[in-house]
Amino acid sequence: MGWTRIAALPELAPEGAVLGVEAAGRRIALARVDGEVYAFADNCSHRDFPLSVGEVDTSACTVTCEWHGAAFDIRTGQPLCAPATRPIAVYEARVEDGAVWVDVP
Ligand code: FES
Repeated sequence: MGWTRIAALPELAPEGAVLGVEAAGRRIALARVDGEVYAFADNCSHRDFPLSVGEVDTSACTVTCEWHGAAFDIRTGQPLCAPATRPIAVYEARVEDGAVWVDVP
């Protein structure tokens, strides 16, 4: 698939908000932290639950799942606490011409 425009940058405001989008048949969550845009799978690896309704901690660069409280590093996808034990997918993201582009596999 490759680099795909998946959102307009203003849709991502404010800092720390999470936006769930669909691209190439995948659910992808976007979050802006410290001016950087991060893209990761919009489904928790514990159960299939959208992380886009979770909460981003901008100081730790993590997202916490609303259902059972698992937290993930949104830079690496690694789980940081139970009950999740498997990482989530993370995708390369960049901002260009006021839009968010993600390298969708
Ligand atoms: S579904 Fe996310 S922690 Fe259980």
